[in-house]
Amino acid sequence: MKIFRFLIISFLYLICNTSASKAGVFSFKKINQIDTDTSTFVSPFHEDNERCLKCHGQAKYEYTNENLGRQIKELMCSERIIKRDEFYKSNHKNFSCTDCHSEQYTTFPHLGELRMEQKLNCIDCHGGDEKFAQYHFEAIEADYQQSTHFKLEQEGFSCWKCHNPHSYKINVRMNTNLKEAITYDNAICLSCHSDFNRFQLLTDREEINLIKKHEWLPNQAAHFANVRCIECHTKINNDIPVAHQIRPKAEAVRRCNECHSKNSILMASLYKFESKEQRRDGFFNGIILNESYVIGANRNEYLNVISLIIFVGVLGVIVGHTFFRIRKHKKNN
Ligand code: HEC
Ligand code: HEC
Ligand code: HEC
Ligand code: HEC
Ligand code: HEC
Ligand code: HEC
Ligand code: HEC
Repeated sequence: MKIFRFLIISFLYLICNTSASKAGVFSFKKINQIDTDTSTFVSPFHEDNERCLKCHGQAKYEYTNENLGRQIKELMCSERIIKRDEFYKSNHKNFSCTDCHSEQYTTFPHLGELRMEQKLNCIDCHGGDEKFAQYHFEAIEADYQQSTHFKLEQEGFSCWKCHNPHSYKINVRMNTNLKEAITYDNAICLSCHSDFNRFQLLTDREEINLIKKHEWLPNQAAHFANVRCIECHTKINNDIPVAHQIRPKAEAVRRCNECHSKNSILMASLYKFESKEQRRDGFFNGIILNESYVIGANRNEYLNVISLIIFVGVLGVIVGHTFFRIRKHKKNN
């Protein structure tokens, strides 16, 4: 009997431990919290930026036509409007417009040659900087260079196409509302993949109907609200917090059990930033339960053990019963 008890306890221990060791994947805990309250933020370059935003901050702008000697009012095209509130909440809110753009933009009409201005890339400023080591910029750059979009660099694709220079703000790392972060991240992809105007700037391909292309996924709306495009379209990279290698469509995740199983890929992607403490004990991949219930991925280990014990017990009864029946049968003969 003692042996039996010992076996059950060690069995339980073994199961609990394997799920705890899985939690070792989370090496990107929510550390180094940045002050996320930006409502009281005042830029040191507020005045400077108003030189630009007086025209670029809203739909209407004015200038003096010196030949005619009068004020002209015109509409700014939407692509060139920069929203103040978004800019002053973004990662680069401390910047002056002319940190990234030529000082010569202060004159209007802008000089024609400014259009040819070379823009700085992320890596030009962030590469090799200890302060930003937690983001792994170099590894992201390497991942991006192998992604399917990289071939469009000649057409103008760059990191900026996904990271809007005037509004991008890190999300999934910081945002305590995961659903909101998912929507934010998916909107990045949809800015081209559901806006043909932007899409066609980069390729001659015909419009891709995303809804149709993902019809194989049951309850598509629920899936798109609970997982990001990058969960299925990037190659998992355990060295960086957000994988950046978008693979060709043929390599996208299609098998349900890549997510709906104990070894769910979601633990190495979407839930990478969640800390161990949030784990709900007893459940495999318990942290997912803070946000979703993913069939297959969220089985309860205790229930598993109990059902196993019941199964073994039932088996025992059947074997015992058969044994005694055979014995009785033999005795009777
Ligand atoms: C008097 C209004 C006005 C002011 C002030 C102004 N801009 Fe512009 N800007 C425009 C208009 C109109 C366009 C679109 C037509 C064009 O490209 O000249 C434009 C275009 C641009 C473009 C896009 C050029 C391209 O490649 O297509 C950039 C970048 C730009 N402005 C930056 C700035 C910056 C930075 C400042 C402040 C230092 C600034 N602008 C101040 C009116 C203005
Ligand atoms: C962190 C660098 C950075 C800062 C700060 C910045 N810009 Fe830009 N801006 C860029 C880059 C890069 C592009 C080109 C984007 C692209 O190629 O998609 C750009 C493009 C533009 C354009 C052209 C339209 C567009 O969106 O492509 C305008 C207009 C503009 N910036 C104005 C401004 C104004 C006004 C400010 C200040 C409020 C500002 N920028 C601050 C980097 C910056
Ligand atoms: C002109 C140089 C420059 C460029 C280009 C640039 N950054 Fe930055 N970035 C900075 C600086 C400086 C800071 C720190 C700003 C601060 O402390 O307010 C920063 C802050 C950030 C942060 C927040 C870091 C933190 O922990 O607060 C992120 C994320 C970021 N940048 C991503 C990017 C990405 C992605 C790109 C390219 C799409 C990019 N940056 C391009 C200079 C740059
Ligand atoms: C195809 C779109 C796309 C391209 C291209 C892209 N990114 Fe990203 N990037 C994303 C998405 C989506 C996220 C997740 C944003 C979030 O939730 O914070 C992200 C996040 C990041 C982060 C924050 C990761 C963290 O640890 O919080 C950095 C830094 C970054 N990207 C840098 C880059 C650099 C550098 C490049 C170019 C070499 C680049 N990205 C190109 C889509 C893209
Ligand atoms: C700036 C626009 C833009 C953004 C943003 C963008 N894409 Fe794309 N993407 C394209 C274009 C253009 C193509 C077509 C490339 C070609 O010509 O084959 C493409 C191709 C793809 C393909 C390859 C399809 C195939 O035929 O193999 C996938 C997958 C993809 N994108 C996923 C994403 C994901 C996921 C995101 C967000 C993280 C994203 N894209 C963001 C423009 C964009
Ligand atoms: C559950 C996994 C999954 C999710 C989530 C997902 N995709 Fe896909 N996606 C796929 C698969 C698998 C294919 C290949 C379909 C095919 O070959 O017909 C695909 C195809 C594509 C294609 C290529 C279509 C073509 O025929 O060229 C694009 C572009 C694309 N997805 C973009 C996105 C975007 C943007 C999102 C987020 C809004 C997204 N996907 C979300 C799995 C996914
Ligand atoms: C990229 C990961 C991923 C893949 C691949 C995936 N799912 Fe899901 N699925 C999820 C998540 C996350 C949820 C949780 C949604 C929620 O919380 O409501 C979910 C929910 C569901 C639901 C419940 C939806 C509802 O109505 O609430 C069903 C059914 C489902 N998935 C079936 C499938 C099938 C069948 C496949 C394969 C064709 C599949 N899933 C592929 C991540 C995935």
